[in-house]
Amino acid sequence: MTTALSDALVFFGATGDLAYKKIFPALQAMARRGHLDLPVIGVAKSGWTLDQMRARARDSVKQHGGLDPEAFAKLESRLRYVDGDYRDPSTYAAVRTALGDARRPAHYLAIPPSMFATVVESLERSGAARDARVIIEKPFGRDLESARALNGTLRAAFDEADVFRIDHYLGKGPVQNLALFRFANTFLEPIWNRNYVDNVQVTMAEAFGVQGRGKFYDEAGAIRDVVQNHMLQVVSLLAMEPPLTTYHESIRDEQVKVFRSIRPLNRRDLVRGQFAGYRGEPGVAPGSNVETFAAVRLHVDSWRWDGVPFFIRAGKCLPVTATEVVVTLKRPPLLHMSADERNTLSFRLGPDVFITLGARVKAPGEQMVSEGAELKFVHHPTADDLDAYERLLVDAMRGDAMLFAREDGVEAAWRVVQPILDDSTPVHEYAPGTWGPDEADALTTDVGGWHSPLGGGGAP
Ligand code: BG6
Repeated sequence: MTTALSDALVFFGATGDLAYKKIFPALQAMARRGHLDLPVIGVAKSGWTLDQMRARARDSVKQHGGLDPEAFAKLESRLRYVDGDYRDPSTYAAVRTALGDARRPAHYLAIPPSMFATVVESLERSGAARDARVIIEKPFGRDLESARALNGTLRAAFDEADVFRIDHYLGKGPVQNLALFRFANTFLEPIWNRNYVDNVQVTMAEAFGVQGRGKFYDEAGAIRDVVQNHMLQVVSLLAMEPPLTTYHESIRDEQVKVFRSIRPLNRRDLVRGQFAGYRGEPGVAPGSNVETFAAVRLHVDSWRWDGVPFFIRAGKCLPVTATEVVVTLKRPPLLHMSADERNTLSFRLGPDVFITLGARVKAPGEQMVSEGAELKFVHHPTADDLDAYERLLVDAMRGDAMLFAREDGVEAAWRVVQPILDDSTPVHEYAPGTWGPDEADALTTDVGGWHSPLGGGGAP
């Protein structure tokens, strides 16, 4: 592995949705912080000119966070554009010409997954993969077999140290904080195990539907879209052992160990739902059986977690937009508390960010009885916060893969969900604006039910 800085960024999919929503704003932010002193070559097949792409970039940043005239001018001056078909060798010849003297480019594939292999193989054939890095968007495969095949294609063209598989959740500060908070606070480690933790819940609720992505979503569903990747990554940070901080791969080693210790999911541990009206969304098949909601119960077969259920619940058209982790502790001896009176530690990961400790304190009055109280730490956004995409692009250009999914990690995560990918479980309809189908409640009955995040998260 080398940590030499990449000296050019080539991004395929320059006229696409992701570029518009995430990549141009991230590039402007990189320019603002002085991290974009290199050519940025957009590639797409749209028949566009460089001026059109610049106009698109300008519009993109205006819509997503605002135009910073000085930073945008830098970005604009670095932009190049190659128009061409991803299947046509002349496109790669044009990329090589646009690269000029660059010796260590990073190729970012922000394109439909069906084109990943074609572009990787063409980069290799054209010589553009030599000494290069590749950044690859999710979804990484659609099951274990296709993920393995894609890893094989990548391996033929790039060293693993030069492959950066994006899971943008890993680029989020509050997600990174899960590991930091655990290991930087001495009071946590003694209780962070099966002796004190009763159950762990991770909820990713979105108050909106598929937002014009019906075609993509209908080929994925909630399990492939967010459970196999974002949600399992969150679980790995919550459940992992302390990393050996002196070794740069140690965090990813520990995360992969968690994926391996999670029992492959059983159909009994899954409830799928679909919001009423989904089948009428543009791009969605009229009789679609795809889930827009999934709830699962995980078993982590490790010394630390044996017997502690981990729950994941993710869905579209739920009552609020909020991603939250709630860790519930066991009750103290002798006090016969109900499940909702127990200590909890909650991490709100977004859109707003806070940590809450749910405690018991003496209620006012003569009686020696307790009532609930919350100790809350709120993070207010600052100019130093990095958006996930900015963070990840900067890291990839530096060759730092810590916040990216590793080859063995993606495969181990697919192995967890593989048994439930076959659509054989029922899909229960739920009304938009509710917490999914009632059937999901049964998964958590023995731990006192789901903890549903309160709103206040704001618009997506
Ligand atoms: C994406 C999924 O990976 O993550 C979307 O494809 C989802 O369906 C999105 O809405 C959520 O990301 P964030 O950063 O808005 O929480």
